[in-house]
Amino acid sequence: MSQHPSQPARLYHERTKHHLDHLARGPEYLDWDDQPDPFRRFDGAESLTLPLIADRIGDQSGESLDRPWQELLDGTIPPAPIDLASLAALLQLSLGLAVWKRHGPNRWALRCNPSSGNLHPTEGYLICRGLAELGDGVYHYAPGQHRLERRCRFPADTSESPSPRGREDGVRKRAPENTPEIWIALSSIFWREAWKYGERAFRYVQLDIGHALGALRYAAALLGWKARFVEIDDPGLASLLGLDRDVDFEGAEREHPDLLLQLTPASPTAATELTQLARQGEWFGKANPLGGEPHFKWPVIGQVAQATRLQGRWPQRPPAHPPGHPPRPIDCPKPAPRLIRERRSAQAMDPQQAMPRDDLLTLLDTLLPRPDRPPWDGWPHQPRIHLVLMIHRVEELEPGLYLLARHPAAREALLKKMKEEFDGNPIATKIPDFPLYHLLSGDSQQVARILGCHQNIAAHGCFSASMLAEFDAALNDHPAEYRRLHWEAGLIGHQLYLGAEALGLQGTGIGCFFDDAVLDLLGLTESGYQPLYHFTVGKGLPDARIQSDPPYGERVGLDHCSGQTL
Ligand SMILES: Cc1cc2nc3c(=O)[nH]c(=O)nc-3n(C[C@H](O)[C@H](O)[C@H](O)COP(=O)(O)O)c2cc1C
Repeated sequence: MSQHPSQPARLYHERTKHHLDHLARGPEYLDWDDQPDPFRRFDGAESLTLPLIADRIGDQSGESLDRPWQELLDGTIPPAPIDLASLAALLQLSLGLAVWKRHGPNRWALRCNPSSGNLHPTEGYLICRGLAELGDGVYHYAPGQHRLERRCRFPADTSESPSPRGREDGVRKRAPENTPEIWIALSSIFWREAWKYGERAFRYVQLDIGHALGALRYAAALLGWKARFVEIDDPGLASLLGLDRDVDFEGAEREHPDLLLQLTPASPTAATELTQLARQGEWFGKANPLGGEPHFKWPVIGQVAQATRLQGRWPQRPPAHPPGHPPRPIDCPKPAPRLIRERRSAQAMDPQQAMPRDDLLTLLDTLLPRPDRPPWDGWPHQPRIHLVLMIHRVEELEPGLYLLARHPAAREALLKKMKEEFDGNPIATKIPDFPLYHLLSGDSQQVARILGCHQNIAAHGCFSASMLAEFDAALNDHPAEYRRLHWEAGLIGHQLYLGAEALGLQGTGIGCFFDDAVLDLLGLTESGYQPLYHFTVGKGLPDARIQSDPPYGERVGLDHCSGQTL
């Protein structure tokens, strides 16, 4: 009998579980001086240094980005013009550097998007048509210098009249009446994560995509833009981004296509047309080898990547069922760009700090699927991830285990499979039908610490969460759903990071957890559900030994908007 197409993904998941008595296969030692380069370059490609958002924060023109967080959530920010300055802000506030950190002789950059081990496997691309300041084509975003590298120039389209400027520099510019169109695509370099985490790295790479998606969605919301998934399969996206061009990646680590988002409304250009333009376009640049001596090789990562490729279309999923109550407002004193850039993973948390129960409900409320609000407007289908909360210190809430069911049928389905002693009673709140259910009272700090690979942050937060996926249902639909489940978990993680920050707390993603021990705790013996990601929220304790420097400090005060066009 032939095996189900999702079998390789299931086997990969099983073999990359961390167990209480042994971890998934990873390198036996690491040479920290030989870490893969976190910055990809395309040598030989023309580059354009982007303006920094500092220019637009606090300006008096009415286009200031210094908007309150609540406006961004409510979608009341008027759309910014689609121009280079807005694109630069979008990229800086999503995939750009947020801060440089220093400790002794070591210096490392942190970005607006978090990443497991700060290894940053995610690469970003911009695709544009009809922008006045940028020729039509595909651009790689280089966050280290906040610049674009032109990978592809789309062929001139004779159906449109080129502007005189376009003729001059050989780049077709669309007629001014045409609305500019922009897309952002994401790809992954597995090696950056595999270097440190070995076989389990593929999971972290996918979680990072979910975070990057969240970061992009929020940066777009700050500009009053939407971010819509464009249906394109992996071979199509690889062609669009030039990832299938062997000649450009000779001796360099390959990138794997993930997703394509459209940021401008009602596009006349279909994804197939974009791919066609890229195939006919002129390509520039060669990928830099990232280094990191491969003392250890993890062929299973290539195999699971192949087995979870999207060819054709994503399976249809039912639409999300939004909650009946209005969203709860967040009173955040920090302007949104500051909050985005100051989001940090807490490395230690205050074990005494409790959070108000109302704040917990507000934070959890932002995880419910509201198709009219970011980030879930970009993710309009029924959720497949639910949260088991280990509540440690929340005022007026007994410590213990709770369930946040992100769609109405999930509570019953899960309770049927979980331990009988879990009561599943809704917690009493003023919000009708808030889907938070009590499972079991008790001190869960020790359990959370152990489950999270013995990390103290899991116990010292106000609460920790395990993101439980409807694993079987998703993989039965399509093997590529394995990746999409992780994206959803990463997106929830990003929401928790920013929501915690907005409430004056901090979060930390926890990719290291003992998979089957989580299932044992809940009594989930069958493979139907699997935990994909853990997270903790609490009061972060700063580390006074570590110094911070501003990002792009070398450029501040310079006339950094060169005004050149590509
Ligand atoms: C998928 C994922 C898994 C992570 N796992 C852990 C973890 O197990 N333990 C931990 O202390 N931090 C973890 N982190 C936090 C990263 O170390 C952190 O994002 C990175 O160092 C960058 O710092 P920043 O989030 O402050 O930008 C994880 C982050 C992500 C996105």
